[in-house]
Amino acid sequence: MSYKKMPVLRIGDWEADIPIVQGGMGVGISLSGLASAVANAGGIGVIATAGIGMFEPDLKTNFKEANKRALREEIQKAKAKTDGVIGVNIMVAISDFDDLVQCAVQEEANILFLGAGLPIRLPNSLPLDKLGELPTKFVPIVSSAKAAKIIFRSWAKQFNHIPDAVVVEGPLAGGHLGFKKEQIDNPDYALEKILPEVITAIKPYEKLFIKSVPVIVAGGIYTGADIHKFMQLGAQGVQMGTRFVATRECDAFQEFKDAYLNCKKEDIVIIDSPVGLPGRAIRDEFLERVSSGVKETFKCPWKCLKSCDFKNVPYCIALALANAKKGDLENGFAFAGANTYRVDKIISVKELIETLIEEYGYSNATVDTGQKVDIEHFRQILLKKRQEIIGNVSEIEEEALKASDGDISSMPIHMADAGTDNYEQEFALGLMDNERKLLRKIEDALERIEQETYGTCKATGVPISKARLEAKPWARYCVEYARKLEQGLVTEQKQDEDGDSL
Ligand SMILES: Cc1cc2nc3c(=O)[nH]c(=O)nc-3n(C[C@H](O)[C@H](O)[C@H](O)COP(=O)(O)O)c2cc1C
Repeated sequence: MSYKKMPVLRIGDWEADIPIVQGGMGVGISLSGLASAVANAGGIGVIATAGIGMFEPDLKTNFKEANKRALREEIQKAKAKTDGVIGVNIMVAISDFDDLVQCAVQEEANILFLGAGLPIRLPNSLPLDKLGELPTKFVPIVSSAKAAKIIFRSWAKQFNHIPDAVVVEGPLAGGHLGFKKEQIDNPDYALEKILPEVITAIKPYEKLFIKSVPVIVAGGIYTGADIHKFMQLGAQGVQMGTRFVATRECDAFQEFKDAYLNCKKEDIVIIDSPVGLPGRAIRDEFLERVSSGVKETFKCPWKCLKSCDFKNVPYCIALALANAKKGDLENGFAFAGANTYRVDKIISVKELIETLIEEYGYSNATVDTGQKVDIEHFRQILLKKRQEIIGNVSEIEEEALKASDGDISSMPIHMADAGTDNYEQEFALGLMDNERKLLRKIEDALERIEQETYGTCKATGVPISKARLEAKPWARYCVEYARKLEQGLVTEQKQDEDGDSL
C-alpha cells in the first residue's frame, strides 16, 4: 500500500499546506490561541465571532463595540503568531453581522466563513461590485444543495461573483445544526449523500465564472481515514471542530475539555436551542434543569441573535456558553460533535495534525477498488439520473424560452430590468447546456457498462474506487488522475474538452 500525501487546499489566493480547516467555535472556544496553532501546523485556523465580546469588561453597556474590539484584537493577535491562513467565522443569525464582516475585512482576515443562516446579503460598506478584488475570501457554510444553489444564484446575480469555497456541514457536527430534528438520523441527509449533491449544484456556476470552488466537508470527521474517505468522494478539504477542542491550544478552560474527556456516547444529545435550531451538546446538570422546565433568570444586555425571543426563552444561550467556556458547567453546557465520546486525551495541535496526516497517508487509498463493483447498482443510478435530466432539460428550456415567446408576464417592466431578464435566460440556457453535457457523460458510462470497461480509469487503467463511483457514477478517471487534470498537470483527452468528465 502506497503512502498518500495530503493535498494542499487553495481558497482564492490563499493556500494551506494541508486541507484541514479548524471549525469556528463560538463564545470563546476558538480564538487566536487555537486558530494560530492550527495555521502554524499548516491548516486554516478560524476565530469564531459568536459572543466574542462576552469576555470584555463593557459587554453589558457597549456590546456591539465590545464585539468589534475583541474581534479586531483576536485577528491581530493571531496574525502576530502565525504567517499561516487565518479565517473568521461569522453567524448570519447574529444582530451585528454587518459590523463584524466589515471589521474582519478591514483587519484583512484571509477567509470569512459565513454560517447559521444564508449569507444572501452582504454589508453595503463592502465594495459589492468588486468582491473578488478583496484580499478576504468568502466561504458560506451550508447543509444542503438547495442552500448552496440559492446562495450561488443570488451572488452571481447581485455581485457578479460567486463564493470562493463552500463548507458542507452534515448532521454529525457539534453546535447548531442546519437540519430539522427528524432529518438528523435520516440517511438521506448524511454527509456522504449531501456532498455530491452540493458538488453537482455548484458545478454550473464554476463553469460560468471559470473558477474552481473547493467543497469542504464538516461534521463527524474524526480520523485521517475519514478525511481520505471524503476526499475520495470529491471533497477538497475538511472542517473539524470536536478534535480541536481536545487540544492544549483550544481557548476553552480545562473543565470544558474535561467534559469532552469524560462524556459517554449516551451523553451526546440533541437540544432545542433558543436560537430556534437543534444543536448537539453534552448533557449536563444545566441542560437537565432546563429540560425539566426550570426557567433561568437573566437579563438580556443586548439582543445578540436576530431570532432570539429573549423574553420567552428558558435561558440565555450566550451566557450559558460563556459560563461553559470558563468551566462553569453548572450554569452552562458544552456544544460537541457526535464523535466527542471518542476523545480520550488532550494533545497539542501539532500532534493532532501529525496523527491525521499519518492516518491519511496509510489509509487504504484503494479502499474499495479491490472489491467487485456492483455494475447493476450503478446502471440503475445512471438510468435514473438520465431520466431526471431529460425532464429537467425540457423544463428549463421551456422556462428560458418563455420570455422570447411573447409571454407578457415575464417581460421587463423597466429598462433596467432588461439586463436581468437576459441574464436569467442566458443563465438558464447555460444550465441546460451543462445538463446536456452531463447527459452525454451518462450515455458514455452506460456504453462502458455494455463494453465491460466501466469502473476502470481510462487514463491509468486502475480501478475507480466504489466511493467515487457512488459520488460520480459517470466518472471516467480515478480520483488521483482527475486531480492531476484539474491542476493542469496532465492534458485532457480529446473527448473530454467540455471539462467535468472527471
Ligand atoms: C463547541 C462548538 C462550538 C461551535 N460553534 C460554532 C459557531 O460559532 N459557528 C459555526 O458556524 N459553527 C460552530 N460549530 C461547528 C464547527 O465549526 C464544526 O463545523 C463542527 O463542529 C464540525 O463537526 P465535528 O465537531 O464533528 O468535527 C461549533 C462546534 C462546536 C463543537
